[in-house]
Amino acid sequence: RMPPLEQCYNLMDFEAVARNVMKKTAWAYYSSGADDEITMRENHSAFHKVWFRPRVLVDVEKVDMSTTMLGTKVDIPFYVTATALGKLGHAEGEVCLTKGARKHNVIQMIPTLASCSFDEIMDAAEPGQVQWLQLYVNKNREITKKIVEHAEARGCKGLFITVDAPQLGRREKDMRSKFSDTGSNVQAQSGDNVDRSQGAARAISSFIDPGLSWKDIPWFLSITKMPIILKGVQRVEDVLRAIEVGVHGVVLSNHGGRQLDTARSGIEVLAEVMPVLRQQGLETAIEIYIDGGVRRATDILKALCLGAKGVGIGRPFLFAMSAYGLAGVDRAMALLKEEMEMNMRLIGAASIADLNPGLVDARGLMGG
Ligand code: FNR
Repeated sequence: RMPPLEQCYNLMDFEAVARNVMKKTAWAYYSSGADDEITMRENHSAFHKVWFRPRVLVDVEKVDMSTTMLGTKVDIPFYVTATALGKLGHAEGEVCLTKGARKHNVIQMIPTLASCSFDEIMDAAEPGQVQWLQLYVNKNREITKKIVEHAEARGCKGLFITVDAPQLGRREKDMRSKFSDTGSNVQAQSGDNVDRSQGAARAISSFIDPGLSWKDIPWFLSITKMPIILKGVQRVEDVLRAIEVGVHGVVLSNHGGRQLDTARSGIEVLAEVMPVLRQQGLETAIEIYIDGGVRRATDILKALCLGAKGVGIGRPFLFAMSAYGLAGVDRAMALLKEEMEMNMRLIGAASIADLNPGLVDARGLMGG
């Protein structure tokens, strides 16, 4: 029933295989979106509203797709975004993603709610390999402070504070399955207060502080030297506010469609944000990332043309890992690199610096 790995030709193929081989509860947790999953579907479809305007007769014999993210040089402008509970899909959990990220010289964002402990994931990295931390802020700030200080001491290079989840969304596929498998990290944060009757997401999230607000951001800036990035920003006013409070970046994201259903896609928000930043001379004041629905190198290219520094990719690596382990993650990343090189040639861009808004027709998006 398992097709050989070589028969996966794109990121969607891994999902189709994973669906057949994964445990039902794991599939439900990874694949679900909030409510009617309209945002989840829109995340990928929104890229189809953007068309390329390639240049011809550009020398693209050599194509360089490397770039930097928060000062780290990477092979290709995507990172492995934080997704909780890696061991639902594969025995090795997040460590499997660490190894894939190393092989392809991309950055891994470690989730607060990893199945492996934070230290296990840091230990799995090779010297020089860069990792970031995704932070769910605990009502008990002492716990959060310890996590942040520990991450910095261990050499983490970025702190991504999730701001789109004061309460976890209703993912009904997930809620229908009873959850039993909390990892050590999850237990440490939630204590014994775990209600397992409403799916994985709800079981693991009771500690998250819905009172978190802009007033807290200066405190985070005061307790760490790591760059701070707000993950889950969805409108230009909040990007301007992020610049004002002095954080280093934002991820325009709707949490993979798992939070507010009918929220806009990251690429749509990007098209709203960038013209305003350019108008105000703020386009380099902050690094802008997007995530959600990125499945093709063309999606990555569209985001970069419109002004993103990089993109996060979540589910495809979970599905590749669940179906084929490290070999799957490796192939998924290799396929993206292959697609990226070809498509840069086809749009007439020899390097990331060549990507600009003129290479796309984004009139289908609101800011376009
Ligand atoms: C997530 N995401 C997420 N985000 C976060 O800040 N903390 C978390 O613990 C998780 N956990 C999580 C679990 C699973 C199974 C998924 C699919 C997603 C959201 C994630 O970081 C990212 O925003 C989306 O996954 C991006 O969309 P795609 O690439 O999955 O379409």
